[in-house]
Amino acid sequence: MLLRDYILHTEAMFSEAELFYGHGTDSPLDDAVYLVFSTLNIEFSLDYKKSDRILEFCELAELDARVELRIRDRKPVAYIVGKAWFCGRAFYVDERVLIPRSPISELIRNRFEPLLALPPTSILDLCCGSGCIGIACALEFAEARVDLSDVSSECLLVAEENVKLHNLIDRAQCVNSDLFASLSGRSYDLIVSNPPYVSLAEAGALPVEYLHEPRLALFSDDGGLAIPLAILQQAEMYLNPGGILVLEVGSAAETLCKRVPKVPFLWMEFAQGGDGVLVIRAEELHRYRDSFI
Ligand SMILES: C[S@@+](CC[C@H](N)C(=O)[O-])C[C@H]1O[C@@H](n2cnc3c(N)ncnc32)[C@H](O)[C@@H]1O
Repeated sequence: MLLRDYILHTEAMFSEAELFYGHGTDSPLDDAVYLVFSTLNIEFSLDYKKSDRILEFCELAELDARVELRIRDRKPVAYIVGKAWFCGRAFYVDERVLIPRSPISELIRNRFEPLLALPPTSILDLCCGSGCIGIACALEFAEARVDLSDVSSECLLVAEENVKLHNLIDRAQCVNSDLFASLSGRSYDLIVSNPPYVSLAEAGALPVEYLHEPRLALFSDDGGLAIPLAILQQAEMYLNPGGILVLEVGSAAETLCKRVPKVPFLWMEFAQGGDGVLVIRAEELHRYRDSFI
């Protein structure tokens, strides 16, 4: 079978199966290309429509098994192939970590302009999962020291793999911490966080694909706000003067605004899609700290 025919055949099967997209791709065709190219180590620059590559028997067997996993188990392609893309870079992923997809990637690519007066020299990726946000920041800001922290030691093993993959062991450190609990004495120019913010009430409505991700990565008590509010309350103590907190709260944005209506969050807009990311300065976090209790 030709590569291009296999991709179109897989696209048709994915469409028929009514899968959910949103873990790195947004259509059956993109999902099929992601699965096939990653399995066969093909560069994504290849135009499969113009390729005459014939699939070998062993390649077909491996691909068929992976396509079945995608359809039967609704397993996202990133977990099947062990690789996700974030900020144009590859990250190792497995079911110990959330699949990277935060719109914060666009802010990193734009070097957080015009939010930061100077390039940050100390950065914290709080609730780091695979480490994708902190590592992408470290690669963007070559002078910065970056801490990657998570409460899950399983996540940190994956983050450590990714730190090695991107040759950052000299500048990036993984720290096991329940939010800021093990970070005392440290302070940062920039704290970036994509914490859990999905309310338990939303759990039943999530597509099966999400059930492959760690529960700890998705859900937060108090209608999704428990962890975001704890971060808003404590972050000022770990920010340098003039420092900023970039916090994704996703679907909890509306509830947050209702809970703390006076806090002047700056909500980011994204050319490439996504929302629910706020920015707030250290000084404002200090001024409004009692609102977050
Ligand atoms: C939504 S995932 C984000 C992962 C990664 N930042 C990303 O964007 O792909 C949230 C992460 O928060 C971690 N987490 C949950 N509760 C935490 C806590 N109390 N302290 C630190 N990390 C926590 C989870 O283990 C998970 O890795």
